[in-house]
Amino acid sequence: MKIEQNKSLKSLNTFGIDVAAKYFTEIRSVEEFKELRGDRRFSGEEKLILGGGSNILLTKDFDGWVIRNAIPGGTITSETETEVILRAGAGVEWNDLVFGCIEKNYGGLENLSLIPGLVGAAPIQNIGAYGAELKDTFHELEAIDLRSGAPVKFNAGDCAFGYRDSVFKHKFQGQFLINSVSFRLAKLSAPKVHYHFRVEYGDVRETLGEMNVQDLSLKAVSDAICRIRRAKLPDPKELRNAGSFFKNPAVSLTQFKVLASQHSKVPHYPQEDGTVKIPAGWFVEQCGWKGKRAGRVGSHKTQALVLVNYGGATGQEILEFSEIISRSVKKRFGIELSREVNVV
Ligand code: FAD
Ligand code: EPU
Repeated sequence: MKIEQNKSLKSLNTFGIDVAAKYFTEIRSVEEFKELRGDRRFSGEEKLILGGGSNILLTKDFDGWVIRNAIPGGTITSETETEVILRAGAGVEWNDLVFGCIEKNYGGLENLSLIPGLVGAAPIQNIGAYGAELKDTFHELEAIDLRSGAPVKFNAGDCAFGYRDSVFKHKFQGQFLINSVSFRLAKLSAPKVHYHFRVEYGDVRETLGEMNVQDLSLKAVSDAICRIRRAKLPDPKELRNAGSFFKNPAVSLTQFKVLASQHSKVPHYPQEDGTVKIPAGWFVEQCGWKGKRAGRVGSHKTQALVLVNYGGATGQEILEFSEIISRSVKKRFGIELSREVNVV
């Protein structure tokens, strides 16, 4: 295993921020991690687990040990006539897992097509898109307690999944290295399976219509979602970004009514708990930020919620730009935006 010092993380985060890690290693197995854990150089060092770096904003050099989790592999650990439990290594590219499942006709992950990053990070914020979330198919995950080195399993209840949220963002923040995630998927090839395709999301229905899809399939749903995403979201390889910078806020029904009386077209999604979710991108656009650029950073022209690094920006510049945006939303609408991106 290579232990690198003063390693640039520029190519390892999708914002393309050029900061350095005091120590850096890439691990490909739990055993490798255990071996390194015993190395005296790392004792007492702060640790940062890195996946694909697509939901992180690095604002300074990391004075500690960055561990890039590249644990590979995928195995079916059990199956019935209608379902499989598939365990994937934390270092597998999320989208490779999704496309692999589509090929095998395993249903459940297709709505989460094209989300960047690695499998191990997916439970951290319970990734979601187009009417599905990781928690819908999550079975369990295996992790290592970074403090004791002990292996621990988490089931869905233990993870306390919420909208872009889990126990790993609160009580257990930075405490575990996730090494595999298992999913419960439907076998669409089995005769007894009546699969419910999730195509209620407006854009998905419309796009399937434009594509003239008559018979739904995992591939058709995935293709429609890929088409929407490619049209809306900038590819980080071409324009550095980390997807939605803020979460969509949920407001009380009373707050929503006040807002709707002033803005009849405000997009909104009623939630089961009685609150109403409003796209943060709408607030950002209403405040005039969509497509605006301030030096080396900006808000994207087709999705105001996506902040971009036009080249050479520091993490601090992006953070400051985001704070200006959230202050303006607070001033105009009284809404406090919370960040989705993890600031380090
Ligand atoms: P990283 O950015 O490397 O890490 C994110 C966090 O997880 C960090 O706190 C890190 O320490 C921790 N972490 C990473 N791996 C592990 C591990 N193995 N064990 C413990 N902790 C770990 N997200 C959505 O939910 N829905 C979307 O539709 C979506 N679209 C996106 C579109 C674009 C263009 C981009 C750039 C991002 C988008 N995202 C979306 C955000 C991002 O892709 C997801 O959050 C993804 O799960 C992050 O994975 P990663 O491997 O890049 O994580
Ligand atoms: N909108 C605007 N202006 C904008 C952007 C959006 O007014 O600049 C309004 C429009 O009314 C639009 C609506 O917001 O119809 C919803 O926009 P979109 O479908 O792009 O979705 P979103 O709510 O902005 C969320 C997730 C995305 C996810 C999509 C699809 C959050 C914070 N973001 O975006 O996730 O891909 O829905 O499900 O929940 C991410 O987490 O990084 C991410 C990209």
